[in-house]
Amino acid sequence: MKTRRTRLLTLLAAAAAAFVMTPARAQSDTVKIGVILPMTGAQASTGRQLDAAVKLWVAQHGSKVAGKTVEVIVKDDQSLPDQTRRLAQELVVNDKVVALAGMGITPSAMAVAPIATQSKTPLVVMAAATSSITEASPFVVRSSFTLPQVAVAIAEWAHKNNIKRTVTLVADYGPGFDAEKYFAERVTLNGGQVLEKLRTPLRAPDFAPVLQKVRDAKPEALFVFLPSGQGAAFMKQFGERGLDKAGVRLIATGDVTDDDQLADMGDVALGVISSHHYSADHPSAMNKKFVADFMAANKFRPNFMAMGGYDGMRIIYKALEASKGAGGEALLAGMKGQIFESPRGPVLIDAQTRDIVQDVYIRKVEKKDGQLWNVEFDVIKAMKDPGKQK
Ligand code: PHB
Repeated sequence: MKTRRTRLLTLLAAAAAAFVMTPARAQSDTVKIGVILPMTGAQASTGRQLDAAVKLWVAQHGSKVAGKTVEVIVKDDQSLPDQTRRLAQELVVNDKVVALAGMGITPSAMAVAPIATQSKTPLVVMAAATSSITEASPFVVRSSFTLPQVAVAIAEWAHKNNIKRTVTLVADYGPGFDAEKYFAERVTLNGGQVLEKLRTPLRAPDFAPVLQKVRDAKPEALFVFLPSGQGAAFMKQFGERGLDKAGVRLIATGDVTDDDQLADMGDVALGVISSHHYSADHPSAMNKKFVADFMAANKFRPNFMAMGGYDGMRIIYKALEASKGAGGEALLAGMKGQIFESPRGPVLIDAQTRDIVQDVYIRKVEKKDGQLWNVEFDVIKAMKDPGKQK
């Protein structure tokens, strides 16, 4: 009796162990990547671009890395940081993702950074661009850009072109503060002036009152940073209020002359000078193929957000190869120091800062074959984030 009961218990224990073992073993053949994007809500165009780019990467490179099957899980945070945080927690605890990625806006990236630190999960920031994000966790790696990179580049262009009196207009949150600060510092250093610093809310901005202030200040140039998705509405108002005709030159970060919306902006955008790390018009063979493949799959033009998503996947895939599919510190080590040719140009992930070092281009909106493009005509090579050099 006793021995039969013992045998039964042993069998039950073995069955229980098998039950626990099976999913664990199955899991070790799969590595999961959790991509959190604003697929709906105010930043939905960013989510749409990033999602398409992530899918293009997987379609081109397959789902097998280091002998394991990669599973990409995409979640919609509606660009609400509380949602981003909750989704990141679920992806880490329940899905056991080896990497988190996405982050459409800075507040989302900041909300997830502590989770990356606590769980030792690399967080690849594919869109958000405030300088300090990479300092919020030692597990953050960035594939997008930083506002100080592009703001300093356009301030230098203004100086070289003898523009002295400027006004700044930025979105009233992290990346806007960086754009305003680094543009103004460089302009002042070069002997120019910032007559006024204007800000508009991230959600539902109204450009009419600030454009009236610009008109009154009569600068030679207005410098603008607005997050991807707001450029077309801004350009329309800039034209309708006749600021171009009043002699105010518009200069911007490439977020404003966004490839996602440029085709719909009309001739008011013609001639606008901007600085950015990516233009769909970048004339390399690699970019021509990227744009052709992306357009064939999606029927819309890739913008800089798509570029961050595509290169972010590259960073994760190559790091998984190096770590043989392991996550944590080993995966992070595989991301640091990556150097590669991207459709945007040459790229380095600085091993110390985990931020991206890249060429920043000066571009002019021109019409080619009836369509508007950001045509690159000058470049600052291998630019580090100026926000890290203090
Ligand atoms: C950001 O929130 O960091 C952000 C969003 C959109 C941009 C640039 C930066 O175009």
